[in-house]
Amino acid sequence: MQLGVCYYPEHWPREWWADDARRMREMGITWVRIAEFAWSRIEPSPGVFDWSWLDEAVETLHAQGLKVVMCTPTATPPKWLVDRMPDMLAVDANGHPRGYGSRRHYCFSHAGYRAESRRISRAVAERYGRHPAVAAWQTDNEYGCHDTVLSYSDAAKAGFRRWLAERHGSVQALNEAWGNVFWSMEVRSFDEVDAPVGTVTEAHPAHRLDWRRYASSEVRAFNREQCEILREHSPGRPVSHNYMGFFTEFDHHEVAADLDIATWDSYPLGFTQNFFLRADEKAALARTGHPDIPAFHHDLYRGMCASVRPGAPAHGRWWVMEQQPGPVNWASWNPAPHNGMVRLWTWQALAHGAEVVSYFRWRQAPWAQEQMHTGLHRPDRSVDQGGLEASAVGEELRRLGDRLAELSAPGIVNRVALVFDYASVWMAQIQPQGADYNPVELHFRVYAALRGLGLDVDIVAPHADMSGYRLIVLPVQLHVDAALAASLEQAAHAGAQVVLGPRTGSKTDRLSIPEGLAPGPLRHAVGVSVQRVASLPPGLAATLLPTADLAGGWTSTDVQRWREDLAVDADVTVEAVFGDDGRPALTRKPCGAGALRYVAGWLDEPGWRATLQRAAEAAGLTAESLHEGLRISRIGALTLACNFSDATLHWQPSAPDTEPASCLPLIGGATLAPRGIALWHTPTAPSPSGADTAAQA
Ligand code: GAL
Repeated sequence: MQLGVCYYPEHWPREWWADDARRMREMGITWVRIAEFAWSRIEPSPGVFDWSWLDEAVETLHAQGLKVVMCTPTATPPKWLVDRMPDMLAVDANGHPRGYGSRRHYCFSHAGYRAESRRISRAVAERYGRHPAVAAWQTDNEYGCHDTVLSYSDAAKAGFRRWLAERHGSVQALNEAWGNVFWSMEVRSFDEVDAPVGTVTEAHPAHRLDWRRYASSEVRAFNREQCEILREHSPGRPVSHNYMGFFTEFDHHEVAADLDIATWDSYPLGFTQNFFLRADEKAALARTGHPDIPAFHHDLYRGMCASVRPGAPAHGRWWVMEQQPGPVNWASWNPAPHNGMVRLWTWQALAHGAEVVSYFRWRQAPWAQEQMHTGLHRPDRSVDQGGLEASAVGEELRRLGDRLAELSAPGIVNRVALVFDYASVWMAQIQPQGADYNPVELHFRVYAALRGLGLDVDIVAPHADMSGYRLIVLPVQLHVDAALAASLEQAAHAGAQVVLGPRTGSKTDRLSIPEGLAPGPLRHAVGVSVQRVASLPPGLAATLLPTADLAGGWTSTDVQRWREDLAVDADVTVEAVFGDDGRPALTRKPCGAGALRYVAGWLDEPGWRATLQRAAEAAGLTAESLHEGLRISRIGALTLACNFSDATLHWQPSAPDTEPASCLPLIGGATLAPRGIALWHTPTAPSPSGADTAAQA
């Protein structure tokens, strides 16, 4: 577990570089990411390269023993290139080019820009591919940032037609797959298919879904071309890309298939302000961020570069490439984190298995778009609060030394999986059917409920191996294919509890209603058939009433936003009904040693907690209600407790075979001050999450 920093030598006088590098090392930093926006300095004019400054920067970092993550600079094509090739710009849904003057001003489908991306990537890779300091690569920067995946350019339209021909084979097949007989939308050739924008009312949902699939495949192809070049010229060095939190414009799992390391950029306060949280949550969590926002992404990206191996956990290599150091500039409001948060976020990431946490950025820029974004240092070179906290973590890591690696070595062994499927997210975004049916939020709320129960979670792709999990939750799996249905049934047979959210299996891969209705191929295994769905405007909630079967532990629960009418087979147990019409709301059908459970609505927070607690207990996992500001993460023989709240909390691990006295608090103890952390060594073999702890909030 190491620290890193994002550094822009081109922003600072050369005389500062050596001092910067020396202070990085003193701070405990090992990795330095550079050059992702430096194209105009690398190639100031077409074909004229200036490597001198970058050579010197790399040597300066190397002289301090720092390892470099070198980037391809393709997120910021220079002005001369745009002038030469104006149609390389992406085009928005209104047909306007998205112009030069900031960043990410390119269309993934433009053949000319693709060639330029390969050319500049090759030039950088040839120059630094075998340099001893360059120990890893990053492709581009944050695909999808600033809504840049979907482009309605001529290049994209032409590419889409070719993609459709390959996917559907014939235009008849396309007409049939989409159901184009509806509203006379049948086409006679692929050339008659346009981009799904500019229509009088909504464009065809299957058309939109294929457009999104195509756009996602273009991101993958763009990235893969760079990966191939980097691997050719820099053998043995891992290739990474930095994903951005809560972005779903392209399939991150598919892009990760070409990477060695998935990294992501963690801005907990920015995400708390800019995404779907309620106003009361935004205010209460303004200076800590929602505790589960970083964790959700840590657990998502840990699953990205995993190879699917039977019985192996879905874990791959992952880093935090950009860690928020203080106030940022881009959210609706940009509060300052409480002192202690930068340290806490760093430890939280390490406990979720991050190899590296790298801060954005070494020093705040005095000019341009991000001058209001803090760094570890202020523009005058003085150290800022983020820098103090990064140094504190550096010191703690030094103190723990090799012990840390030893104790965390067995890694993370989780028994709870949450399935995240990009295609299902797109389907729900294209066809929400209710203004507040936000599929990303639903994943997040379910995840937060699991974390609030003290459970450690793997977020996995639908094709992951499910056999090691005891509790598998699919909050938004609109499309279930035969392989996923089989793997869920198999897992249930072997004892897993499978919890299916509303709308599971409600769509085919063409975004139409499956024969036999929802939940599609799981219809018989789940024992329910969805007869009708309804979205609920704010204020129109339905109360859930537990049946006699659901004894104890049930708090008053509402269903909001979405509900379904189920027809239920005779061998299905109904655990709760809707208060108004008595129809089934929560069901359970045994399957071998386990069960499949169906949730026929969007539950409120107590509802998800109660439902998942019950499923966890049926799966043999111990779930505890943690204080809302307390989160626990386990890695190897280590357990980390983080207190995000303003209150002093008390918590310690209580493994049944461990005397409390033998617990070694390496950092902190059973009393957690606000923003405090405690790292525990529990000398037992790693056990399933939730099975060995008791929480006393
Ligand atoms: C990220 C981006 C960085 C920087 C940062 C500011 O999205 O990758 O380049 O802009 O945000 O918070």
